[in-house]
Amino acid sequence: MKIIKKPEELQKAIEALKKKGKTVGLVPTMGALHAGHISLMKKSVSQNDITVVSVYVNPIQFGPNEDYERYPRPVEHDIKVCKENKVDFLFLPTNETLYNDNFSTYIYNNKLAKIMCGVTRPIHFQGVCTVVSKLFNIAMPTRAYFGLKDYQQYVIVKQMAKDLNFNIKVIGCAIVREKSGLAMSSRNTYLSQQAKQDAAGIYKSLCLAKQQFCEGKKLKDIKKKLEKNILAVAESKIDYIELRNSENLDLAADKDKSVVIAVAVKVGNVRLIDNIVCKK
Ligand code: PAJ
Repeated sequence: MKIIKKPEELQKAIEALKKKGKTVGLVPTMGALHAGHISLMKKSVSQNDITVVSVYVNPIQFGPNEDYERYPRPVEHDIKVCKENKVDFLFLPTNETLYNDNFSTYIYNNKLAKIMCGVTRPIHFQGVCTVVSKLFNIAMPTRAYFGLKDYQQYVIVKQMAKDLNFNIKVIGCAIVREKSGLAMSSRNTYLSQQAKQDAAGIYKSLCLAKQQFCEGKKLKDIKKKLEKNILAVAESKIDYIELRNSENLDLAADKDKSVVIAVAVKVGNVRLIDNIVCKK
């Protein structure tokens, strides 16, 4: 595995490989790699000749009072995980190489970035789209892998690739969970053992909501019940509960065949997101 820090260096290496007809898979991450990330890497390795993983805690997607400084950065662990999973290139850029003094160009989705997580995190998806489009231009992948854990991010990136004519297939990968059902996340390290157990109640509540959807219950009633169940999780505060069309994130209607039920919940001080896709 080659570790590369400079964007131009990765670009050159990938250009040479693509000239030889190799396909390239990209897995963008912020590191503190866990089984969720590994599932993306494995998929990329199985579908492409070359896999690039990027590990970069992207400052421009964090709000002023968010956890940018505190975000875990276990670099040695991440290198080991990438090596073990047959990654070809680990891209470790720095703030200096990605955002120079005159950096001033941003990518923003004018519709999808304003809803759901965008309400309390107004600059978040602009930061995500900007860094992902830079990574797309640097790694020039054939395919790029995103987890459905961050469902809104996945839909926004897919839309961005379409809107801006990136010739890249954006692939969504299933959510990997702890045995308890808690969705894996680098931020779970902020939770105490007790809070981790309690937070598993979020997924249980989502499963129940899905069951009700499949039984044909009205969305309004599903949402009410879900709210009640999530509030029963100790120390929980709801940021949002949203039922949206799973394709375009429009507000869901009772007639919709495929709906994503997405939640953002604070357990103590830790903000967690999770979702479940329900199909009729
Ligand atoms: P990060 O939170 O590190 O996640 C990297 C990728 O792993 C994302 O596509 C995310 O959806 C996926 N992922 C995380 N937890 C997962 C789980 N439990 N199951 C399946 N996939 C999971 O998302 C980001 O980083 C950043 O916003 C990034 C796209 C790298 C841009 O900075």
